[in-house]
Amino acid sequence: VFVVKSELKLGAKMQIAGLKYRTVWWQDDAINIIDQTSLPFSFEILQLTTIEQVAQAIVQMQVRGAPAIGATGGFGLALAARLAPAKNFTKFIKKSKKTLLATRPTAFDLIYALDIVEQAILHSPADPAAAALQSAQAFADSNVQACRQIGKLGAEIIQPNFRILTHCNAGALATVDFGTALAPIRFSKHKNIFVYVDETRPRLQGSRLTAYELEQEGIPHAIIADNAAGYFMQTGQIDMVITGADRVALNGDAANKIGTYEKAVVAKENNIPFYIAAPLSTIDFNCASGKKIPIEQRAEEEVSYIEDKLIANPNSPIQNPAFDVTLARYITGIITEKGIFTPEQIERLQK
Ligand code: MRU
Repeated sequence: VFVVKSELKLGAKMQIAGLKYRTVWWQDDAINIIDQTSLPFSFEILQLTTIEQVAQAIVQMQVRGAPAIGATGGFGLALAARLAPAKNFTKFIKKSKKTLLATRPTAFDLIYALDIVEQAILHSPADPAAAALQSAQAFADSNVQACRQIGKLGAEIIQPNFRILTHCNAGALATVDFGTALAPIRFSKHKNIFVYVDETRPRLQGSRLTAYELEQEGIPHAIIADNAAGYFMQTGQIDMVITGADRVALNGDAANKIGTYEKAVVAKENNIPFYIAAPLSTIDFNCASGKKIPIEQRAEEEVSYIEDKLIANPNSPIQNPAFDVTLARYITGIITEKGIFTPEQIERLQK
């Protein structure tokens, strides 16, 4: 993997919302991504030029967040269409799709983007590589538009002075730009809002990435320990919860970063509205309920180590599910680019 830039020092200004950078983009015959494992300590752009590099970047979470994974996968299949040898073209495409699909099983945007790029390849025998790239680019562009719209619609339910809790990172870094849960927050930054940021063990997407994005935007916030959210809700310090989603089922159940479910339950107990923000590409219309959503299990070392330091009893087994399912009954509304829906209304959005 070729690192092209390491240009920003800690605390420097990085504009990611609609301006200088997208999270993933096609340039110089390569997939360019912001390396999210380096943030917030250094800003690096990686250029991916093989399918193995793309798959590794997703598995290692150098690029992460459902729509960002989807866009990277889409560009990955477009890359495969350029790299495929003429005499083994179809086999190479199939193998590449399988490799990319296997990287992370929960995010539905990955399946969605790979399917549309594969269809573009199949329907354009004259120039499949050009069609694939056009399709991958269209997915990325549509995600930017969807997130912008989610921001505008979601901002309508954020009142002045609201104190909002969010979990994981559902910001510009998790999408192609703007974010899902952070988009309505971005569009409300003039309303004197305050954001509580769950640190989000074990990968710390909240304390590293969400806090970084909020600082870049100048939005007042505080990082809290994962197990502190209940305290802040019970003591009346939170008006609303907004998170993203990796996959929404037909019945309105939503899979998101591990820990989201318990935040939703505690929110309901305290009469605090709990919203999911997600583009329509995150809805799996073939998935009847959250019970059918595959939950990624990740390496033990993500829990037992922080950086290179062992922080757990060395011989104890560890379990590390990366996502949980928030049941529809805990979700007040799902903010999409087409409107804010109750979980019960999701089924009716089916094409
Ligand atoms: O494991 P991650 O960091 O990819 O998980 C990300 C999340 O859970 C996000 O909340 C979700 O993908 C929505 S992103 C707009």
